[in-house]
Amino acid sequence: MDKLIITGGSRLSGEIRISGAKNAALPILAATLLSDKPVSVGNIPHLHDITTTMELLGRMGVRLVVDEKMNIEVDSSTINSYVAPYELVRTMRASILVLGPLLARFGEAHVSLPGGCAIGTRPVDIHINGLIKMGADIKVEGGFIHAKAKRLKGCRLVLEQITVTGTENLLMAATLAEGKTIIENAAKEPEVTDLALFLNAMGAKITGIGTDVLIIEGVERLGVEDLHYDILPDRIETGTYLIAAAITGGKVKLKNTRPDILDAVLEKLVEAGAEITTGEDWIALDMHGKKPKAVSLRTAPYPAFPTDMQAQFIALNCIADGVGIVTETIFENRFMHVQELQRMGADIKLESNTAICTGAKKLTGAPVMATDLRASASLVVAALAAEGDTLVDRIYHIDRGYDHIEEKLSQLGATIRRVPN
Ligand code: EPU
Repeated sequence: MDKLIITGGSRLSGEIRISGAKNAALPILAATLLSDKPVSVGNIPHLHDITTTMELLGRMGVRLVVDEKMNIEVDSSTINSYVAPYELVRTMRASILVLGPLLARFGEAHVSLPGGCAIGTRPVDIHINGLIKMGADIKVEGGFIHAKAKRLKGCRLVLEQITVTGTENLLMAATLAEGKTIIENAAKEPEVTDLALFLNAMGAKITGIGTDVLIIEGVERLGVEDLHYDILPDRIETGTYLIAAAITGGKVKLKNTRPDILDAVLEKLVEAGAEITTGEDWIALDMHGKKPKAVSLRTAPYPAFPTDMQAQFIALNCIADGVGIVTETIFENRFMHVQELQRMGADIKLESNTAICTGAKKLTGAPVMATDLRASASLVVAALAAEGDTLVDRIYHIDRGYDHIEEKLSQLGATIRRVPN
């Protein structure tokens, strides 16, 4: 298992390019299963979760060709299996995203249940119940979801809770269903919007995109000649590098990103004392060498503050002036980073789903362990501001979601290196 060694204290400065969004690339690659023509997808980030998705599709018999620019051409006409096996699903929960497309296009899907997760129980009942409402016959047996349907039927779905991948699965399934489907209380995350735009580019008829009511007029088939689609930029990667710069008092410019989908995060950075300037596809942050001010926040579905940025803001609060109160409302157990940050000298008290962070004068480097993707990012961010060396173990979590993190941070002047075990 690789580790990262980070020597804190360098003020980050410079420019980097943001990669494509993991959480848009995963559903879009799953959605290529719906197309009866080959599809090319670009701006794919270089990530372990992408490799896992390619392996998953490859095992089903789907033909994938990747070029040197990470454009992936997917041809699902060669598919010969409708199974998502446990060994892949357990390493990547997002594998559940093949359920809707397989069922809608091929009438059959066998997808392993994902099982436990470091950030909460994360059930998939809303995915399953929605498909049952659309006429699917679903049995859960032997740890697998076995689903069958002749042709799904459009209907009105009112989601019990806002769910990102749940909305995506049902949206994909509805594109090939008979008649109209209305998804109410749908997730409005930009990644859901990107998926909907991709589906429409393949010939789907979706309206209400970007709102919490998606209306899908089912079509007989999807797929157009020579379709190429570029994934939207990763807003969480963007936010993470902005925090990395802010915690070191630095000045950076992030290119190939989208400020319009980061309002809640940028607002909190301004509250922390950052000067933010934006253009259509870039964001610049300047702390003018100052220490950040602590910020309080509450996670909630988009457009509110994203849970995927909570851990990084806690890291920022650890060295900030004042007290920041951070409440997590999406996942019940997403504070695994707190104990590791405490090992670096952070003053954080946990009270149920709230972390009360009192800014410490300094953090000190320590050996710490990554427990999930965003928790790992918060440890890296904290290490950049800590005195001395921090060794971050189990960084396979980081490689799932951050494209070339040590190269990008080095480019901004951080002292960071990867050491193999
Ligand atoms: N939920 C249910 N039943 C369901 C589905 C969800 O109760 O059938 C609950 C979950 O347990 C959770 C809440 O609904 O409490 C919201 O979860 P959601 O389904 O929205 O999460 P997800 O779709 O599994 C995606 C991202 C996560 C991100 C969340 C929230 C992908 C591949 N993953 O997960 O990203 O945190 O939405 O925005 O899109 C990450 O990138 O690090 C990551 C964890």
